[in-house]
Amino acid sequence: MNPEPHAVALGEYHAAAQAQPNIALVKYWGKRDAELNLPVVGSISITLDSLWTRTEVRFVPGAVQDRVSLNGRSDESVTKRVVACLDLLRQRAHIDWGAVVDSRNNFPTAAGLASSASGFAALVYAGGRALGLELSEAELSILARRCSGSAARSVLGGYVEWTRGQLADGSDSAAHPMLAADAWPLRVAVAITSTAAKQVGSSEGMRRTAQTSPFQAAWIATQETDLAAARSAILTCDFDALALVSEHSCLKMHALAMAAQPGLLYWNGATVECMHRVRTLRQQGLPVFFTVDAGPQLKAVCAPSAIEKVKAALREVPGVLDVLDSGLGAGAHAIALGALEA
Ligand code: DP6
Repeated sequence: MNPEPHAVALGEYHAAAQAQPNIALVKYWGKRDAELNLPVVGSISITLDSLWTRTEVRFVPGAVQDRVSLNGRSDESVTKRVVACLDLLRQRAHIDWGAVVDSRNNFPTAAGLASSASGFAALVYAGGRALGLELSEAELSILARRCSGSAARSVLGGYVEWTRGQLADGSDSAAHPMLAADAWPLRVAVAITSTAAKQVGSSEGMRRTAQTSPFQAAWIATQETDLAAARSAILTCDFDALALVSEHSCLKMHALAMAAQPGLLYWNGATVECMHRVRTLRQQGLPVFFTVDAGPQLKAVCAPSAIEKVKAALREVPGVLDVLDSGLGAGAHAIALGALEA
């Protein structure tokens, strides 16, 4: 028989949470343990505020199956990953009940916009609360990491570092806060250049890269230098230094992945045009830099004073479908039940 879980804050093993995507400035690419989702390198990110995932989780005593809906639809591959994440929570709470999960994103899903990061951060937060687990920030980050590496960082707000860790069990590989969002309130413009789901997911891309890219060893060997440069830029709010290291880490990650066999090419023509546009703006004196993840969207990070000009310039690039805009925000947090649509 299952022992009863701890007292439940919101009643009926039911809770809701919100988390936002994060954008890596020093990238995570590669795993030292695929089962525990442990990275070969540490990484540094910023958490956004106006893009979000909202998730409601209800565990149903006696239920044997999970029911999962994302943006009102059920999808086999999403359900598989959500069930694996719920299993980690069930193990923690010593229960085996099925759950009903309803999750919404207010931005395109699975197109390189970090939907798995906000998705799993919101899921572990809501699921943990639904079961009354009282998890610390580090415990939430580790659970989120097991479901998707970058989700470890979306548990926290502002400027965040996810430590590589050394231990085989991954208990030292969690995210921790570096600087609050309002201590350096940069803005991010996201140029959407395609709404199609990416062809090669990050996990497969990382596996292929580690097995076949001739640059894998150099990637690992040089990461600590980038992390140190980004830490110092963030702690001193030095925009130029952060621009330099962030663009470097982005281009280096893509060069590494492009050199895999077959090569991973996440960009389209508009992505490249946007990179040039951002560099031209910077040469003209605007404080802005770009970064791109495992998809074709370009994220332009800038000072608040530059955001309108950056958005206008990106909108003019042929192939840009839309430009979203976000500030920096908080980590995963509880929201009222029934607030998914709000
Ligand atoms: C390019 O976190 O999506 O966005 O751990 O396999 O789920 P898994 O990968 P994921 O990879 C994100 C890779 C990246 C860089 C980053 O966010 O640091």
